Amino acid sequence: MPLSFVPLTFPSSLDSTKFKDFGREVVGAAPGNLTEEEFKAVEAALYRHDLLLFRNASLTPDQQYSLVKSFDPQSEHYGHGNKQLDKTKQSIIHSYVSSLPNTPQVQIIGHGTIKNHEGIEERILKHGRHPEFHKTRISEEDEAKGFTRFFRWHMDAALYDLNVPKVTALYGIMVPKGPTQTVRYDDGTGDELSVSLGTTAFVSGKVMFEILPAELKSLAVRARAKYAPHPFQWLRNAKAKSTGISLETEGLETPLHDLPPWEEEKIKVYPFTWKNPITGDLHLQVHPLLVMEIQVDPLPQGHHTESALYPFGGTISNLKEIRDLLYRMQRPGIAPNLVYAHPWEERDLVLFNNRGLMHSVVGVSLGP
Ligand SMILES: [Fe+2]
Repeated sequence: MPLSFVPLTFPSSLDSTKFKDFGREVVGAAPGNLTEEEFKAVEAALYRHDLLLFRNASLTPDQQYSLVKSFDPQSEHYGHGNKQLDKTKQSIIHSYVSSLPNTPQVQIIGHGTIKNHEGIEERILKHGRHPEFHKTRISEEDEAKGFTRFFRWHMDAALYDLNVPKVTALYGIMVPKGPTQTVRYDDGTGDELSVSLGTTAFVSGKVMFEILPAELKSLAVRARAKYAPHPFQWLRNAKAKSTGISLETEGLETPLHDLPPWEEEKIKVYPFTWKNPITGDLHLQVHPLLVMEIQVDPLPQGHHTESALYPFGGTISNLKEIRDLLYRMQRPGIAPNLVYAHPWEERDLVLFNNRGLMHSVVGVSLGP
């Protein structure tokens, strides 16, 4: 069967006019054994569509690692550094992911106890739930009725020392079965989104950028995010807003001098917008929770307008100002009609452009 890329079936909640190019199902190729020619087509399609789905995929952890590595042959590690997580128990990532013993570049995520899986005798997995991370929570009664929230919007990246991975592969080996859930934004807008149990939610950084008003677009292309050193330890006591795309500013970040030793050269500074290597489109791609400073270039002389933001450039280091600004730029992009919540089926393999979209775990606890 020739290789083809078939548009995904979107739920009616999604504004399909903005998602014409987003997401394709790859038909006619085995993701664990792509020929060089097939890989080239898949790689181009990944950047063109930002998310690719293989149904009924069959691949080993080694094959999964090799596939992801093909997109970035220089990279030798998982985005947070293979086994480093085990040494950084203070990191908020530690409780949700753990390495496979024989392929530490591949992490296992989920909820419940797994036994005899890929060299793991027994391990308890924990699914991220919003009450552990948000300042407010949905009541237990409402959770029992199926209401939930986005857990934490992010790109997969350590954002200290290590570069942002180009591609993430999520392989759904077991999928929870149960009724749909309703994501509540709980931010006064009344926004809600119906999703399947255990879904992963995705938003396009390209759409997030495109829908911005001119003054925020102008700022986005001039701005850089400077991330905190050891950022997942820096924020470990802070609490998120109810939409999962920002933090409350309550002075709960770990003071820099209380973090493990860090070096200025390993701090990451990235532009707000990332250029898609195939389409040339700009994607707004900022990890909203970990930014410690925003650096803004001035507008060129003669381009100043009344509505321009930070026309003379500068540095923003007030965390509330940083988060308010990012919220103005990113909250519109997670509106219910702009979220693709993937309805997982067993053996789905989802590959996504980790430098061009953001994603979030969704849902309540999925049983023992
Ligand atoms: Fe992730």
